[in-house]
Amino acid sequence: MKIILIGYMGSGKTTLGKALSLKKNVPFIDLDQYIEMKEGASVRRIFKDRGEIYFRKIESYYLSELLASQEDFVLAVGGGTPCFGNNMQLITDSTEMVVYLKYQPKSLAERLLQEKHLRPLIADIVDTDLEDFIRKHLFDRNPFYMQAKYHIPMDGLTDVEGLKAIERVIDAPKSSSI
Ligand code: S3P
Repeated sequence: MKIILIGYMGSGKTTLGKALSLKKNVPFIDLDQYIEMKEGASVRRIFKDRGEIYFRKIESYYLSELLASQEDFVLAVGGGTPCFGNNMQLITDSTEMVVYLKYQPKSLAERLLQEKHLRPLIADIVDTDLEDFIRKHLFDRNPFYMQAKYHIPMDGLTDVEGLKAIERVIDAPKSSSI
């Protein structure tokens, strides 16, 4: 079974995905890291040298490549992955275990403040504008994120609590949210 974690930048997809993969005893794949390995360049470098359109093209390409495999894994995709091309359709077609890690804009702004320089889409946004930017960006992205079968409200949860919440919904697949 493939388990796919989606959510805005800074929502803990990589950290929780790794922890979940250990619990489930399946490999963990981070789509950004997979792209970096395949392209031999960091996501930041790809954005800088080739631009976002090129990044979105290869992001879709490598996502399809991964989803076509018969392997079980936990996959953390980038914050924008579900929102471009037919990526969300590919994701929901490949498994019903699609989990949206949902944070309010205020929490995301707090979580991203120290690391925004690592993320090309928000690196140049002044700190005081970050929450507003995220609120608008999330509004655009929500229609895609909402297509996930499971939605986990993450605000205020520790990593351990977040992991438990994910396990609860994927191990009891009848409810679609908590
Ligand atoms: C992006 C999120 C990033 C990375 C790229 C674009 C986005 O991944 O794919 O910088 O569009 O939200 P994380 O969500 O892992 O930061």
